[in-house]
Amino acid sequence: MSNSKGTALITGASTGIGAVYANRLAKRGYDLILVARSKDKLDEVAKQIESSTGRKAETVQADLSVTADVKRIADRLTSDTSITAFVNNAGVAAATPLLATDPDVHDQIIQINVTAFTRLAVAAASSFVKRSSGLIINIGSVVALAPEQLNGVYSASKGYVQNLSIALKKELAGKGVTLQLVLPGATATPLWDKAGVPAHTLPAHIVMTTDDMVDASLSGLDQGEFVTIPALPESADFDAYEKARLALAPNLSRNTPAARYGVGARK
Ligand SMILES: NC(=O)c1ccc[n+]([C@@H]2O[C@H](COP(=O)([O-])OP(=O)(O)OC[C@H]3O[C@@H](n4cnc5c(N)ncnc54)[C@H](OP(=O)(O)O)[C@@H]3O)[C@@H](O)[C@H]2O)c1
Repeated sequence: MSNSKGTALITGASTGIGAVYANRLAKRGYDLILVARSKDKLDEVAKQIESSTGRKAETVQADLSVTADVKRIADRLTSDTSITAFVNNAGVAAATPLLATDPDVHDQIIQINVTAFTRLAVAAASSFVKRSSGLIINIGSVVALAPEQLNGVYSASKGYVQNLSIALKKELAGKGVTLQLVLPGATATPLWDKAGVPAHTLPAHIVMTTDDMVDASLSGLDQGEFVTIPALPESADFDAYEKARLALAPNLSRNTPAARYGVGARK
């Protein structure tokens, strides 16, 4: 097909949010590289997209909790110059309290949501900066703003995604690369089943369909948003939160302790 926008590499494209991104990006003219562990499900997604859109969809099996597999995908991001977009989406969650969760589950969350996420984000960003173009979509979560909810390691991993994205955004300024951070609220995907709380058991008014979540996020991208929170009615509310955070900056590091600690008075 002639009107290709290049290739989008999407991690976690076998189900849920990643599979919908695959469909939508193909409809927007991207060929695809779809990454996950479940080869059969990836092939199914690829086949359906190829037949409905005519775009090419390659599938790559990789376990992002395994360092060698993460490096293989990072190498692909840096060496394949047909790749013009990267959706850093693969993730795992837990919904149980910190102290009631198997520490191996916490390790798994950190390996995928933090370690692999970082290596792949940096690989894509470095490669795109060299070409002064490209699109990176990092999938965070609203639990970064509400760490009291779900599992603390999961929300912390998404806080990490948020901070890394803010830092990366600063480094990418003026370098021709677009970065978007998406913070979905509860979205009806298999993630909830795996976390032991099927989405249909949540209050219906807090759960968005995956189609709506991804379509809203791509609309946010089209509107030039850096941070997209699909459910938040007023984007000004998040802007105010960011403004309050940034207003702290001049006073966060000083050569004297704050007066309330009484340390200066001792001298
Ligand atoms: N659903 C929500 O309510 C929600 C809300 C906020 C943020 N998010 C975030 O959205 C992203 C996508 O989640 P989802 O809801 O679409 O979940 P999902 O349906 O469970 O999909 C997760 C995807 O990640 C892949 N994945 C999991 N472990 C992997 C591993 N070790 N190596 C490679 N791929 C792996 C899965 O494929 P395989 O199992 O085939 O490997 C699957 O394709 C995650 O980062 C999640 O934290 C979701």
